[in-house]
Parts: sequence; structure tokens; C-alpha cells
Amino acid sequence: MNLETVDKLLTTTRSVRRRLDLTRTVDPRLVAECLEIAVQAPTGSNSQGYHFVVVTDAAKRAALAELYRSAWADYRAATTGQPPVWNARDPRMARARLVRDSAAYLAENFHAVPMLIVACVDGRVEHAPAMMQASLYGSILPAVWSLMLALRARGVGSAWTTLHLVHEEQAAKILNIPAGVTQAALLPVAYFLGDDFAPARRMAAHERTYWDSWGECSGAV
Ligand SMILES: Cc1cc2nc3c(=O)[nH]c(=O)nc-3n(C[C@H](O)[C@H](O)[C@H](O)COP(=O)(O)O)c2cc1C
Repeated sequence: MNLETVDKLLTTTRSVRRRLDLTRTVDPRLVAECLEIAVQAPTGSNSQGYHFVVVTDAAKRAALAELYRSAWADYRAATTGQPPVWNARDPRMARARLVRDSAAYLAENFHAVPMLIVACVDGRVEHAPAMMQASLYGSILPAVWSLMLALRARGVGSAWTTLHLVHEEQAAKILNIPAGVTQAALLPVAYFLGDDFAPARRMAAHERTYWDSWGECSGAV
């Protein structure tokens, strides 16, 4: 394997919002190819309960955009004016404004994104024990990330979103998603503009990695 390429893909696949090219239609064959790659991801007991609803119809995209915007407005109202969650030296603080502005841009332009992909999985776990919840989401979320990676490698950007799930039932009606199916993520998808994505500043993994007991960071490396 070419580690340089693999590591670059893994460290520079960002949430693309402002740099989604809203003027170009995404080639459906390219997306179909990426979905075949994505389903190589693991699923609990090899259940393979994944489904992907690829939405290009303008009226359906507009309807989903309405749901998204409504959830975004509520989220923004609930979080605006609140004291910062992180202190000034926290790397998450440095990007908070950028992420917020980028998220606002996405909400405003959601209807214009040429393709939306809703990743779904068979089953519902809202009243199930933790093991069942972890198994269900763990059987779709790896495929979603693989999809984002495969798309990015082909010049297509996406952003992981979940806000529309505030209105999951309405989204199910728009897309004819049957009862008993869980929507796990919605990816706005478009070719990206420019290709200078860089690794993000994160909380260091070694500060969050514990050897043998929670909190023991000194470690063997
Ligand atoms: C579970 C999950 C839910 C997310 N939901 C949203 C969302 O609804 N809207 C949005 O704009 N971004 C959403 N994001 C994207 C995050 O804001 C983003 O991953 C984070 O700011 C880090 O930026 P990066 O992906 O560019 O590294 C979500 C990400 C995850 C993993």
C-alpha cells in the first residue's frame, strides 16, 4: 500500500460545505462505485442491513432542505449566546466560529446541493439496551465514513450531517422509507472546489489513550 496516499486520504477528508460545487451534477456511476466500496465496511453479525437513499430530485431535495433548515434554526437559537463550552486554548475553540459559519452556509444552501445521500439501517433501537444500540449504529456508520473517503478520493466532497433527524419521520415520508428503518446520517454530496484540504488540529490521541487503566496516559510508546 502507498501509505502516503492512504494517510493523506484518512487525514484530509474534511466536512466540505462551502466548497461544494453547487453548479455541477454528480455522476451517478461514480456514486454507485463508491457505495459498492462503502459496503465493504463491517456490520454486526455480518447483518448487512444498510440502505442508501440517493436523492437528486429537486423537489425532494428542497423538502429535505426545509427540514434541515428548521432543525438548524432551532439548534442555532439554542446555542447562540451560550458561554463557550471549551477554554480559549482548546483546539476545538479555534475552529468553533469557522465550523459554525460553514454550517450556516450549508443550511442556507442545502436545497442547492446536487445530491443528498441518506444512510439507513434496518431496525430501531431507541428503547433497546446499549449493546443493541452500538450494534445497530456500528453497522452503518463505518460504511458512511468509507463512502466519504471513496468520494473524496474521486474529487467529490461531502459532509456528515445528522440535524435533519430531528424530523426523521417527515424525512421518511418524503423518501418512502419504511417504518422500522433507522436513518443514521445525511450526506450532502457535490464535486469539491480546490483540493488543498489539510489535517485538522485535534485533541491529541495520546492524551486520550489510556494504558491498562483509565487516565494512565504515560503509555508504552
Ligand atoms: C455524528 C456527527 C454529526 C454531525 N452533524 C452535523 C450536522 O448536522 N451539520 C453539519 O454541518 N455538520 C455536522 N457534522 C460535522 C462536524 O461538524 C465536523 O465533522 C467537525 O466539525 C469536524 O470537522 P471536519 O469533519 O472537517 O474535520 C457532524 C459530524 C458527526 C460525526
